Amino acid sequence: MEKFSLTTAIDYVNGAPHIGHAYEKILCDIIHRHYKKRADKTFFLTGVDEHGIKIQKTAKTLGITPKELCDKNASQFVEAWKLLDIEYSKFIRTTDAEHKKVVQDIFEKLLEKGDIYKHKYKGLYCSGCECFLSDKDLDEDGCCPIHGKKPEAVEEENYFFKLTKYKERIIEHIKNNPEFITPEFRVQEILNQLENIEDISVSRAKTNVEWGIEVKSDPSQVIYVWIDALSNYITALGYDVSGNFGDNFKEFWPVNYHVIGKDILKFHSIYWIGILMALGIELPKGIYAHGWIMIDKNKMSKSTGNVISPKTVMEAFELDKPDALRYFMATCAIGGKDGNYSDEDFKEKVNADLANNMGNLLNRSLNMLVKYFDGEIKEEFKNDALVDVADSTVKEVLSLFDKIDVAGAASKIIALSDEANKYINDNAPWTLYKEGKIKECGQSLYTVLNLMVKTGLLIQPYCPNIANEIARQLKFDINLKYDEITPYMLSAGKLITKEEIKPVFLRLDSEIAGDKKKS
Ligand code: MSP
Repeated sequence: MEKFSLTTAIDYVNGAPHIGHAYEKILCDIIHRHYKKRADKTFFLTGVDEHGIKIQKTAKTLGITPKELCDKNASQFVEAWKLLDIEYSKFIRTTDAEHKKVVQDIFEKLLEKGDIYKHKYKGLYCSGCECFLSDKDLDEDGCCPIHGKKPEAVEEENYFFKLTKYKERIIEHIKNNPEFITPEFRVQEILNQLENIEDISVSRAKTNVEWGIEVKSDPSQVIYVWIDALSNYITALGYDVSGNFGDNFKEFWPVNYHVIGKDILKFHSIYWIGILMALGIELPKGIYAHGWIMIDKNKMSKSTGNVISPKTVMEAFELDKPDALRYFMATCAIGGKDGNYSDEDFKEKVNADLANNMGNLLNRSLNMLVKYFDGEIKEEFKNDALVDVADSTVKEVLSLFDKIDVAGAASKIIALSDEANKYINDNAPWTLYKEGKIKECGQSLYTVLNLMVKTGLLIQPYCPNIANEIARQLKFDINLKYDEITPYMLSAGKLITKEEIKPVFLRLDSEIAGDKKKS
């Protein structure tokens, strides 16, 4: 594979990052790290969405400028992603000068083309969604079903994008490309929404919303958040309306995936596609809509007071590395459905998979290697038990990643160390040693340690620090690509001393999180 690129949604900065935002960035970071082991060049874009009425209002309440508020809050996202070892290629802010300029140019280009027109409009605006809602979108109490609030009646003269002009082409594209939207169960919902699609408002009157990018040819209007926000995917790569594209745009557009939450799939698979068609830009190769992370089975919301930040979780469990949280988040939602976070589930899952299953296995095996063979792998230990199993796991993991099944791939990796645990219990190298079957004892240890090298390489995208520790103890290069995995990954010679053996992951203490919350 030559190239792989992906993007996350850009988060609103009107609050601090929570574990729902973190879930998406972790998912993307894992996908990106996985493809780094398969592709020659990769690009991973994330960032923040800073304009709109919510920021304007909050800043006013706090007595600071919207830009000051954005600077303060954007840095919290940067810090949170650092804490979680999210290694993005670029972090875009929609207040970046370059982004603002290109968004203005895009707007002018669409105006010139006649795809944007001015129109007097009366509608219901939900500031939570930052969009107009139709009566059909509301629940029985007339509220936005996502934010539970009554939208505000707005009457304004705005610019509109002729989305209806592209309706048929969008439908055709979705129908002709069954893998364009994943998971597949979301496709019909989008096709249904397309049936009732109308032209969309793409600007707000400055008298009502000031905090936005000004329309160049009409400073009485600001560009409405979605056209500003969605364009980040191309402005960040160096798109330019004159065709003078930056290197990243030439290299990485169209991206392989836009990864976003189910709540904003409509904006990505309908609005954004229409805008790209109007601009004559190639479409992204795929859109993956993930589910939502709930807290103790409830939706996270400021009013319920159940919003959890990744930092809180790490502090509550006294974690200095994010691997456990990354692993849990990556596995707690399956197949694009909603997932759930609870302290109890978190602790159980990571203790079972990372400490008991993987960590203990490595620790036990290395200790036996030191005890019986002074930490040395002998040439005669090399054998092919479980080599086929590991080989087919590698293939399965790769194919699951091609379907963005990050949780499914993790369960295959853990199933591999399950196999190895079963193997070591069945073969009992401690008994073989006692019975004087020295070669067989060495062979069974080789089998498990050789398999742990492959497990380390496969788990690396999820748990980079644990993987580094596995690689340090088994003396292999953690940056190996997947096509460099060969049947026998351990060579003969001294592997490790007693002092070098360290548990790769310590069990989470059951009492810690509860106590922290009580205090
Ligand atoms: N700013 C827009 C996106 C513009 S993309 C061009 C936005 N921001 S958001 O902050 O509300 O959400 C950012 C991302 O986080 C979205 O993909 C959203 O689905 C995701 N999540 C927000 N809450 C979530 C959970 N509780 N669980 C999982 N993801 C959630 O929408």
